[in-house]
Amino acid sequence: MTLVGKRHVDKAADVLTIFGISGDLAKKMTFRALYRMEVSGALKIPVVGVALDDWDDEALRKHAREAVESTVKEIDGMALEAMLARLSYVQGDYGDDATFERVKEALGGAEQPVFYLEIPPSLFATVVKGLGKAGLVDHAHVVIEKPFGHDLESARALNAELREVLEEEQILRIDHYLGKEPVLDITYLRFANSILEPIWNRNYIAHVQMTIAEDFGVDDRGRFYDSVGAMRDVIQNHALQVLGLIGMEPPSRNDHDSIRDQKLDFFKAMRIADPRHYVRGQYDGFLEVKDVAPDSTTETFAAVELEVDNWRWSGVPFFVRAGKNLPHKTSEVTAVFKRPPLLGIGHGKTPEPNRMTFRIEPEPGAQMRMFQKRAQGDDSFEPADMTVLFEEEPGCDPEPYERLLGDALHGNHTLFTRQDAIEETWRVVQPLLDDPGPVHPYKPGTWGPAEANSLVNGVTHWADPWLPEA
Ligand code: BG6
Repeated sequence: MTLVGKRHVDKAADVLTIFGISGDLAKKMTFRALYRMEVSGALKIPVVGVALDDWDDEALRKHAREAVESTVKEIDGMALEAMLARLSYVQGDYGDDATFERVKEALGGAEQPVFYLEIPPSLFATVVKGLGKAGLVDHAHVVIEKPFGHDLESARALNAELREVLEEEQILRIDHYLGKEPVLDITYLRFANSILEPIWNRNYIAHVQMTIAEDFGVDDRGRFYDSVGAMRDVIQNHALQVLGLIGMEPPSRNDHDSIRDQKLDFFKAMRIADPRHYVRGQYDGFLEVKDVAPDSTTETFAAVELEVDNWRWSGVPFFVRAGKNLPHKTSEVTAVFKRPPLLGIGHGKTPEPNRMTFRIEPEPGAQMRMFQKRAQGDDSFEPADMTVLFEEEPGCDPEPYERLLGDALHGNHTLFTRQDAIEETWRVVQPLLDDPGPVHPYKPGTWGPAEANSLVNGVTHWADPWLPEA
């Protein structure tokens, strides 16, 4: 049972209401997730879509069918029909009380609604207040899409507005990275293997590096992306949440808060970032993207060094880079161990350091790079990689939105970000937002501006990502 102030949210949801059902995220992700939930038997309740568009139930179903057809390869026709039959539509302006009265009517006698807000952030508070005024939130959970604020102050202000109507336990803040199976695997690999724990600290690890790279540009998201940039779009949230799992202490109980408490402690120990250790880049051609300001200085690439002041991590730099139009679509985090000393083997050469990589995509997996004697008589070293591919091992399903929506329907908070962690992560990056420094141009298809290499100079070089075998 989830305690919500004096309210009790003790049953699974009996209706899912999606604000922003006609938007891009719904088209690309939500209908696919709903369809997959229908196939797996996880979707058993009505789904009410709300938007401004002049649609009716049939128009929504047509749109949903097209969205599923364009995102799912082999469709189970019966499951698709069953999912479509759950959909109904409420048209309305979010600023108008009458919209919420119509939503109330559409919910019928539902007692435990989940409201999913996939709408522009400027409308989050308006919708939550509208729901409150219509008396719809007493036993509700409200799922809020990212971004949650655009800096520390706005995240606090947004939260204060939501809290006028909702208890913290009713707010489920989405970071879809936390719903990725390989991200969940990080915690299991770290803590279910006793050989890792003794070496997972500053005595053995020299530095950590993380890359979130995409091999495409901003495409049709110019307006949104120009107002955020790489730091706000993926580093403050996705990258830091993953580093939280890499760096946290083991959770002590299997409840909604243990992992979130441990990540929070890790974030609290993170120093505020230093703008001198921050590099921003912008790919050539970004200024020509539709809806991007012609003189925009928004970064499409960011690289930063972060530091953590605690017993486990003091003195271990965490280097993070993320960007659009880089050479590959890949997302990984690597712990690089200390170099072995010069040895009386291997032709007087020092072996390279070991590294342990968690690959989130493509082909999720983990790899420990060891070294062995080169085969056939040569006395030098060569890499000997120990690799686990999660697709063959723990498996890759369910997909992030499918998992997170399913968790929301059961009031399971574990994979949603709490306000305290959101504030800590904004605290860490705030100096970079206040003093972003220049933005350096880079050519699409390269690893960002050359300045990103200076960031790691003297400590390491950015490792080539671990890519699937061709
Ligand atoms: C989103 C960002 O949160 O994450 C996008 O807004 C980015 O810009 C996306 O492309 C990356 O997610 P994934 O799951 O494709 O790695």
